[in-house]
Amino acid sequence: MKTLVVYASKKGYAKECARHVADGIGSDSIAVQVGREANTANIDNYEAVIVGGSIHMGNLSGSLKSWLANHAQELLEKPLGLFVCGLGEEEQEQYFTKNFPSELLEHAKIKCYLGARLILKQYNPIIRAMMKKITKKDEDIHMERPEAVKACADAFK
Ligand SMILES: Cc1cc2nc3c(=O)[nH]c(=O)nc-3n(C[C@H](O)[C@H](O)[C@H](O)COP(=O)(O)O)c2cc1C
Repeated sequence: MKTLVVYASKKGYAKECARHVADGIGSDSIAVQVGREANTANIDNYEAVIVGGSIHMGNLSGSLKSWLANHAQELLEKPLGLFVCGLGEEEQEQYFTKNFPSELLEHAKIKCYLGARLILKQYNPIIRAMMKKITKKDEDIHMERPEAVKACADAFK
């Protein structure tokens, strides 16, 4: 299915996931960043939509939440996929519940947890120290989930 993948990503992991999902689906599917890029894409030109992004302090980016609210009606008319990226694999269910409108959660045919990546040097020293404290780890964290990314794409083929 020709699919529009709309993502929000701070440091590139969710962006990478979104691009892999779009590439995996094929059929002229594209991944666009929320904001100007997403605003220039016309949902009507796509058969399906997948929306998601990375979680920070329990939240998806505010601009992605606004985009979801502004496009809820159109999204209800197409096959829909949702995804989140985050270190809290066990919290994934609550991340979906908290961040996506309930009607979209009910309508979505797939909700994908796509793992996470935390590269400490991408952050300033304050965030770095905070993340080390929260994760109790002194190193980068690789929780990439290529199999989940593939499953997300396969559901829209
Ligand atoms: C300041 C900060 C806060 C974060 N908060 C959460 C969180 O609440 N829950 C979670 O699961 N992951 C959290 N993460 C981890 C990110 O979601 C994860 O590193 C993700 O892969 C980043 O994706 P991005 O590169 O697309 O921004 C946090 C990371 C940072 C730097």
